[in-house]
Amino acid sequence: MPDLFSPFTLKGVTLRNRTVMSPMTMYNSVDGKLDDYHVSYLGARASGGFGLIFGEQMAITPDGRTTTSCAGIWDDNQIEGHARVCAIVERMGSVPAIQLGHTGRKGSEVPPHKETNEEGTWKQLPPDHPNGWTCVAPSAIPYGGGGHIHPVHELTVAEIKAIHQAYADAAVRAREAGYKWLEMHYAHGYLGASFFSPLANQRTDDYGGSVEKRLRFHTEALDAVRAVWPEEYPLTIRLGSDDLNPAGIQFEDSIYAVAKLKEHGLDLADLSIGFNTDEMVDPPLAEMGFMLERAARVRREVDIPVATSWNLGVPQNADQAIRDELIDLVFLGRPALANPHWPVWAARELAHPDPFGLVPDDWAWWLRNFRGHEASIGWPANRGTEPSTSSSSP
Ligand SMILES: Cc1cc2nc3c(=O)[nH]c(=O)nc-3n(C[C@H](O)[C@H](O)[C@H](O)COP(=O)(O)O)c2cc1C
Repeated sequence: MPDLFSPFTLKGVTLRNRTVMSPMTMYNSVDGKLDDYHVSYLGARASGGFGLIFGEQMAITPDGRTTTSCAGIWDDNQIEGHARVCAIVERMGSVPAIQLGHTGRKGSEVPPHKETNEEGTWKQLPPDHPNGWTCVAPSAIPYGGGGHIHPVHELTVAEIKAIHQAYADAAVRAREAGYKWLEMHYAHGYLGASFFSPLANQRTDDYGGSVEKRLRFHTEALDAVRAVWPEEYPLTIRLGSDDLNPAGIQFEDSIYAVAKLKEHGLDLADLSIGFNTDEMVDPPLAEMGFMLERAARVRREVDIPVATSWNLGVPQNADQAIRDELIDLVFLGRPALANPHWPVWAARELAHPDPFGLVPDDWAWWLRNFRGHEASIGWPANRGTEPSTSSSSP
């Protein structure tokens, strides 16, 4: 039976454990580039023991960003920053992963910590603002919620094909930078999510209507990336699998989607929410592990490895989800922001015999032998004396 600290192998890549730093947009880029900020922030989580490290949704085109201060990989001159991040993540024993995405009708925003709208959520800038632009979408329907009211442009078929090419070009750059894992972002109301949702996609051509047609954007993008992304490296998706609205994405359609994408070379599905509307029925967003049952169903019915995030930061819950074989990997967002050493702490909480085995060897040696001052590092004095319930070494 695997546990949170069992290694995980997918294709030619082995993760040292099942903890993943979930992609999180950082609003800290100039011209879409990664720099010292990202090397430091992501390197710290890699040295903190995570098995797989994502930065943020990397825009495949400039208008695929959330804000003008978000990162991307649409230009060759951005490769160097990504290569620096990949190098530090690998040096710290983790695996570098990239999430490719396009924000669609949820672009042209202001970073939420800088300014919010009247409802206290994301604020969208009008197209004529110096930091704004006209957003693109499957249909000319603005998101609506949270002040996303500015007109959006309905993509032509030629423009959709150009976006697929941009995905492939970005994947080539990601490969050159040194990433070993690639996730396509099809969730959270961004372009992929909106193509899948009847709320946002009301096209009458081959890219809208039936579930097969609403999934065409995704299969073609996956095909374009699969053609250039090394076969030995995992190609995965984050899928907005439920809009929690009777007129939006229904979870049953998502089971079909994952099965179809598996036929196109998908290696793992990371299940999340559609977020194509603010009008969700009883959204369980604060509940512990509320995506677990849905993810487990996909795992069982499609026979594919799965992952999920959402409130899995209590170590016992994360570990149990792996032991029960509901999911294969645990994605951690806010817990990873709050605690770069979350895996070390979790290993200690789970009475693992060697929590410091997760940090680089030279630190590990000192910390394992740091006796008598456990309280000074937030470590109970009985460290290492409890029986282990874990079957593997970190
Ligand atoms: C600051 C912040 C930025 C985020 N940016 C992204 C992103 O770029 N891509 C994405 O798929 N999810 C993004 N998310 C969602 C997280 O990856 C994660 O799925 C979510 O926070 C739920 O996990 P948690 O309960 O462990 O935080 C973001 C979350 C936060 C807090």
